Amino acid sequence: MTKQKVGKVAEVPPGKMLGVQANDRFFLFANVDGKIYAMDGKCSHMGGELWKGTLTGKVVKCPRHGSEYDVTSGKVVGQVKIPLIGKAKDIKSWPVIVEGDDLFLDL
Ligand code: FES
Repeated sequence: MTKQKVGKVAEVPPGKMLGVQANDRFFLFANVDGKIYAMDGKCSHMGGELWKGTLTGKVVKCPRHGSEYDVTSGKVVGQVKIPLIGKAKDIKSWPVIVEGDDLFLDL
């Protein structure tokens, strides 16, 4: 794994999210009460761009069909609102490295 700079702390203020593409993969960064978390940015259901969803506390809601994930763990905490179109699965969370004003991931 290689440590890569992926953004700035100032781009993810408390209560906000940021979408980042690195190594052909999308990541979601979310600031929950001053701590920044990262997880895969595409919904496991049908690829919704989670950083375009809504963040309430530590829960992000997918903008496509409403699945909800805990941004601190990547675990599904609320399922797709239309049961006939499949289910969301837990997605990978990533440890965030903060150095000064910069955000890094080990990719
Ligand atoms: S793509 Fe996210 S809930 Fe369907």
